[in-house]
Amino acid sequence: MDVIKAIVSRRSIRSYKSKTIDKEDLMILVEMGIKAPTAGNLQDLRFIVCTEQGIINKLPELCMDQYWIATAPAVIVVCSQPQVQAKWFGERGRHVFSTQNAAAATQNILLAAKDMNLDTCWVGGFNQEGVDKLFGAEGKARVEAIITVGYAAEKPDPKSEQPLTASMFFQKYGQTLEDPVAANNDYSIKLQQHLSKIEEDTKKAKSNASKWFENAQKQIKTHVDKYNQKLKEKK
Ligand SMILES: Cc1cc2nc3c(=O)[nH]c(=O)nc-3n(C[C@H](O)[C@H](O)[C@H](O)COP(=O)(O)O)c2cc1C
Repeated sequence: MDVIKAIVSRRSIRSYKSKTIDKEDLMILVEMGIKAPTAGNLQDLRFIVCTEQGIINKLPELCMDQYWIATAPAVIVVCSQPQVQAKWFGERGRHVFSTQNAAAATQNILLAAKDMNLDTCWVGGFNQEGVDKLFGAEGKARVEAIITVGYAAEKPDPKSEQPLTASMFFQKYGQTLEDPVAANNDYSIKLQQHLSKIEEDTKKAKSNASKWFENAQKQIKTHVDKYNQKLKEKK
């Protein structure tokens, strides 16, 4: 699976089978987290792998009553050390880089898990003090994210996504393309070339990606049709 396929097919999963996760797999996931970029290459993140159900069961209460968390056979807790970042980068290190480093590592773990046929959810809605205390991090580190890891026992509904043209500006904030239809056409061709490559794998894996692929194809067709229509009108 290439990284684009992992990005396209990853979804947040909030219900897990009781099947346990191999310790080695959890170690690989942490390794992938360590490989993420960190400001100043300080590599100051710390990862707590927790498979003890007694501890996991305490999480929902500390995470805004998200009871589904207790179905996860494992969680990876991503911790920053704001004091280390602050030493090098001052307040920006303490308040911004610490969290950004953890976010990069968290996303690495989510994507690596997808590649390993594991499912995850990024949990950020928690009581900071309570969670720091539960994992023994208080005074030493700050819990930035909790990642539930397991095998999906649900299939999430398809989600709607912002169209590229609404989210992307050129050169300056708010500046869209002069001729978005033409640009969409170029983008569509390139995307189509890339997706054709992925499609072969996707057919085999029958993953969510194939649905995304079909949608992308439809969107591309709409863009191309619009583009052709515009060309006709210009003539
Ligand atoms: C910073 C952050 C915090 C999040 N916290 C939670 C959370 O506490 N509980 C939860 O169920 N999902 C949480 N999520 C997952 C988002 O709800 C999810 O990514 C979003 O709905 C899009 O769905 P998808 O991941 O399936 O694409 C969080 C995601 C991020 C990036």
